[in-house]
Parts: sequence; structure tokens; C-alpha cells
Amino acid sequence: MTTLHLSDGIIKDEILVVALSHKKSIRDGKANLVIESGDIALDSKKLLPILADMGATGKADEVIKIPGITTRLLVFTGIGEHKAVIEDETLRRAAGAAARGLSGSSSATFSLPTKKLASLEAVAEGVLLGSYAFDKFRVDSLAQRHPSLKAVTIHSKLAGSAGAKDALKRATIIGEYTALVRDLINTPPSHLNPESFCKEFTSLVKKVGGAGAGLKVSVMTHTQLKAKGFGGITAVGQGSANPPRLLHISYRPVKVKAKKSYAYVGKGITFDSGGLALKPAAGMEAMKSDMSGAAAVCASTIAIALMKLPVAIDCYAPLAENMISDNATRPSDIITMYGGKTIEVLNPDAEGRLVLGDALVKAQENKDLDGIIDVATLTGAQVVALGTRTAAIMTNNQEFSDHFFAISKTAGEAFWPMPLPVELRASLDSAVADMANIGERMGGMMVAGLFLKEFIAPELPWLHLDIAGPAYNEGEPYGYTPVGGTGVALRSLVALAQSAAIS
Ligand code: BES
Ligand code: ZN
Ligand code: MN
Repeated sequence: MTTLHLSDGIIKDEILVVALSHKKSIRDGKANLVIESGDIALDSKKLLPILADMGATGKADEVIKIPGITTRLLVFTGIGEHKAVIEDETLRRAAGAAARGLSGSSSATFSLPTKKLASLEAVAEGVLLGSYAFDKFRVDSLAQRHPSLKAVTIHSKLAGSAGAKDALKRATIIGEYTALVRDLINTPPSHLNPESFCKEFTSLVKKVGGAGAGLKVSVMTHTQLKAKGFGGITAVGQGSANPPRLLHISYRPVKVKAKKSYAYVGKGITFDSGGLALKPAAGMEAMKSDMSGAAAVCASTIAIALMKLPVAIDCYAPLAENMISDNATRPSDIITMYGGKTIEVLNPDAEGRLVLGDALVKAQENKDLDGIIDVATLTGAQVVALGTRTAAIMTNNQEFSDHFFAISKTAGEAFWPMPLPVELRASLDSAVADMANIGERMGGMMVAGLFLKEFIAPELPWLHLDIAGPAYNEGEPYGYTPVGGTGVALRSLVALAQSAAIS
């Protein structure tokens, strides 16, 4: 990963990155460029005509490189319309786009407007998130890849302030654990299955200090899951040669009292073929990302522990591979979920809600919870409703949802509240069991949410985050978001724990 430094002195790198915005002139309506170079003064008179000649617009995701004056290279990263107060997410994206555009270079100084520590932290995050690359499986083609920026110095007047170092530390943790989520998502099912997912986190927990860091891991095997009645996880996993698991990571703050206690539950389908409701071949490869929720909740739990936040987290990842075999769950099979509810599996491709139902019930055995959050690439309907960049929040508690929504905004993640209309619930009624696993097709995202709601104690504040669209980027990279796994939800889950710490 790129290493970060702070400076408020002279620039030592050969590359200087600054921001560029545009401002409509009141006089002639023309768009004028504005160089926003933070605490470094640049000769705008000289540079603006060059930028104009180059066709610079200052729009987001525009990265322009010109020969520098005092440095070898001067890089302008677009932040869009000129504003007196620049949003942190704008800076995060601009820093990310520039870092991405500088792969192959060894070091650079970033001088973007950082009037407050949160902005400095956002720039640092953007640099780390934007310089991510996934080259683990390249051999012959590795030589043609540009390596990520090795070192970045963030130039800011705040560099020497008490909080700057801590801000950088936090950004480094976010960068490192977002990269882990992305790596896991990008790793194909040939190399990531329920068992290896558990091994990854078991050794990671050990590496970061285990019990000394307040972390504990436990894993339930296929045999244990069957014996204990986890009918959902078992039903989804039984068609695969790679048996299912239930991973539990708990974090308890060391020596301080937890101010809040949350359960984080993430869907961990390491590959979703659709099972006997086999998905079409076109696009099926994206279903290696169906464990994005599990990766996000597990990695965020480790990040929260490393930040030593005074919250208790019980993280559960129900892991299974949804495959076809003579042992696979058939449409019409009836299963008994953990806790006793019976489900008629009308569609084996609606498997996420089955593994989550079990894990949600298990998580609620902790009676001290202040809230429970599940994170899942649950429905194609989510992508239809909100597109590929916005995730959905569904809830049984408006206050919790409003709080999380506000938090996610500060973290720079796009979530949007969606309802759980009661009238859709009846569509999940089964002719033969307590409930069916599919209902009305229209509003399928909300139907899935209503299914999960049946597994939640009514008085427990609950959020269901459907991240089907934003978890995996099949389009072009933008801002700090690469192609493939994005790591969405991690920053919000960490920020929620941070907000509990200061409340
Ligand atoms: N993993 C998929 C949902 C998904 C779709 C995630 C596209 C990311 C991108 C999920 O298991 C699924 O197959 N859902 C079905 C549910 C349906 C059968 C009720 C769907 O959305 O089609
Ligand atoms: Zn799925
Ligand atoms: Mn499915």
C-alpha cells in the first residue's frame, strides 16, 4: 500500500498534485478555471492559459498533467464547480482519481484544500483508495502493469497539528481494510471458498493481536451447522463440494466499557450460480462478488478494533457456495431455519436471505445489542431501483436509519432509504410452510427486506443494507473506485462505531 507522510514545508517530490475547479463568470457566463492548491501558492496567471489551451474543464475525474515550474510535473485533479466549502467526498474522489492516474510514479505531494482535519483525512483516504490495484493473479502480464504510487506526502497547514497524525492513522486503517475487502471480492471462487474465507480472518485476527486487541474468532463447520439446526446456511451450501461455514468475530474494547453494542451480519456467498435456478451464463462471473457483505462486516470489525473504539461488535458471516449437484436444494424443498421457522424454497437463487436469516437469529442471542445491521448483495431489484452507485437502507427503526444515513454521508458512501411496505409481506406466504423464500417480483428489494424482517425481534433497531449495485464495479473506474470490488459499506460501518464512541 502507498505510504503517507505529512508536510507543511518545502516540496521534496518531483510531482505536485493540486485541485482544479470551474466557476461561471457573472459577466459573460463563461466557465473560468480556478486552481485550488491548498496552502501552496501557484502562478495562476501563467498556468491558466496553459490549462485552457489543453482543454481543461476542472470537472470531476479529469486529471491533467503538465510540466511543472518548481517540480518536474504538475498534476491538476478536477473537483467540479468552485465552492467556498468543498465537500470531503469531493476531495476524496479527486485525490483518488489523481492517485490512480499516477500509477507508475514513485512519489508525489498532494496539496489540495484542507481547511479542516476531516478534509485532510479525506484526501489521505482518497489517495490510498485510489492507488489500489489487484495484480495477485498476473504472471506474464505483470510486467506491463504500472505499480501503484509508493509514497505520498499530504501538504497542509494542519500537518503539524495534534489531530493530523491520528487522521492519517485512521485513513491508513481504512485504506488497508478497504483493500482487503476489495481483494476478497476480486478473488475468484477457485481461490476463495467458505473455508478459506474463515482461514483468512482467523489468521488476520491472530496477526493483529487476537485477544490482546479485544478480538475473538470462532467458526462453525458444516457438521456443526447441521447439528445445531442452521437450516438456511445448510440448504444453500449443501450443493457444493466446498462446505458452508458460519464465521463469528467478536470485538470487545480492551479495558474500557463499550458505549454501544452492535451486531454486523454480512452475506457471504463465495459464488452464486443460482443453484438449481441456474443464472444465465452472461454475467454470472460477477457472482464471485456475492460475499461483499461478509467481507465488509468482517474487515470493518478488525478496523474498529485497530482504532480501539469503545464499542462492542459481534460480526457474523454466514458463508456458502450456491451450487448445483444431486445434493442441491430443490425448488419446493422445505427447510427449518435456526430458531425454528420453516421456509419453502421456491427459488434456490434467493439464497442470501436464507443464510442471513440463520445468522440474524444467532446474532440476537446476544441480548445486549443496541442495534443489528445486515449487509448483503441481496437483490438484482436493488440495482434496478437505485443503480450501480447507490445502496439501499431498509429498517424497522426510523431513528437508527436516519442516524446511519447521516453517518454514511460523512463517510462519503451513497446510501438511500427505502421503505418496507407491509402490503408486500403477504406475497411471501407459502401454501405449505411458514413462509416462502420469494414473493411478489415487483419491488423485489423490499420483499427481500420484509423476509429478513421476520427474523428480527420487533423492538431491536435493525438496518438492512442491500449493496447489490455498488459492491462491484463492472464499468470504468472513477474517483477512488476501481474496477471490481469497491469495499462499499466498510467506511460507514466504521463511522457508525466512531459516532458511538463520541456520543
Ligand atoms: N446475489 C444475487 C443478487 C445480485 C444480483 C447481486 C445482481 C448483485 C448483482 C441474489 O442471490 C439473487 O440471485 N437474487 C435474486 C432473487 C430472486 C430470485 C427473488 C434476484 O435478484 O434475481
Ligand atoms: Zn446471491
Ligand atoms: Mn442468488
